[in-house]
Amino acid sequence: MRSLFVMDPLEGLDLSGDSTFALMRASTARDWEVWWCHPGALWAEAGQARARAQRVVTSADGFERHEWAEVALADFQLVWMRKDPPFDMGYIFSTYLLDLVGPKTLVLNAPAGLRSRNEKLFAAAYADLTPPTLISRDIERLRAFVEAQPDRAVLKPWDGNGGRGVLVTRAGDPNLRSMIEVLTDEGRRYILAQRHLPEIADGDKRILLVDGEPAGAVLRVPGRADHRGNLHVGATAHATTLTPREREICARIGPTLRAEGLLFVGIDVIGGWLTEINVTSPTGIHQVNRFDGVQLEERILDAAAARHRRER
Ligand SMILES: Nc1ncnc2c1ncn2[C@@H]1O[C@H](COP(=O)(O)OP(=O)(O)O)[C@@H](O)[C@H]1O
Ligand SMILES: [Mg+2]
Repeated sequence: MRSLFVMDPLEGLDLSGDSTFALMRASTARDWEVWWCHPGALWAEAGQARARAQRVVTSADGFERHEWAEVALADFQLVWMRKDPPFDMGYIFSTYLLDLVGPKTLVLNAPAGLRSRNEKLFAAAYADLTPPTLISRDIERLRAFVEAQPDRAVLKPWDGNGGRGVLVTRAGDPNLRSMIEVLTDEGRRYILAQRHLPEIADGDKRILLVDGEPAGAVLRVPGRADHRGNLHVGATAHATTLTPREREICARIGPTLRAEGLLFVGIDVIGGWLTEINVTSPTGIHQVNRFDGVQLEERILDAAAARHRRER
């Protein structure tokens, strides 16, 4: 097997916590050849996706860089799209380039799925699994939605990640209209308004799914100083298990994930309500491994290899 990881620059990786590095290391351990490239190093010529890429050999705690080469993506069995957000036009265009890999190469997650599934709207499509949500850029409509909630509400950008821009508000909040103006850039950008779930005090559960099946979870409990359950703003990670309701959520969305080639996905669940389906570059392998005593990267590689055998 030859694998190419399309990703942010290697020098910026936190090797002890990075999920992409865990996949690279497990690939090397299987004697698969591992290469990496930046999405900006992809190009298309004569209908074929190509890249300037570098071969790497990983070890337990690092990697050796080997030769750079101009490669055809068709010469790889697996291409992993692991670029971190922002999900912008550059990101979308790289998924078009990844459509040109040729019939023998499997791209994970599938470029069409990455393009068509927005992380917050994908969740909102399952209205009975998500908290009441409005997606709009109309300042008055957003304000009326918040005013109609029984207690608090959150406002968040459609394309946020890591908790960026997630604000808590409530009916009667004198800052409400101003917050909506700022987040929507005066009605020019879409945002989500959502019923606030008080169960966030008990944590935001990240459940990792491999080929549509739940494979592990970690509970992120907000710290005292910040309402958000994102680890880099002070939330702490805890071991957890899945409730029947969370298994039901996974069972409902799993077949769609599998059908669309979204092999490695992380969903966020607060109090049994689905808030997000992260498809672009989910993380959390290390935490799940630590708490559940598993090797999630092995399960992901097994699933990828099986899918490649089946489909290519
Ligand atoms: N409906 C909600 N009720 C309570 N808190 C929420 C809600 N939605 C988001 N949050 C808070 O914001 C954090 C990030 O929200 P999320 O929707 O997962 O966006 P992001 O992509 O930025 O992680 C959550 O961990 C939680 O603390
Ligand atoms: Mg989240």
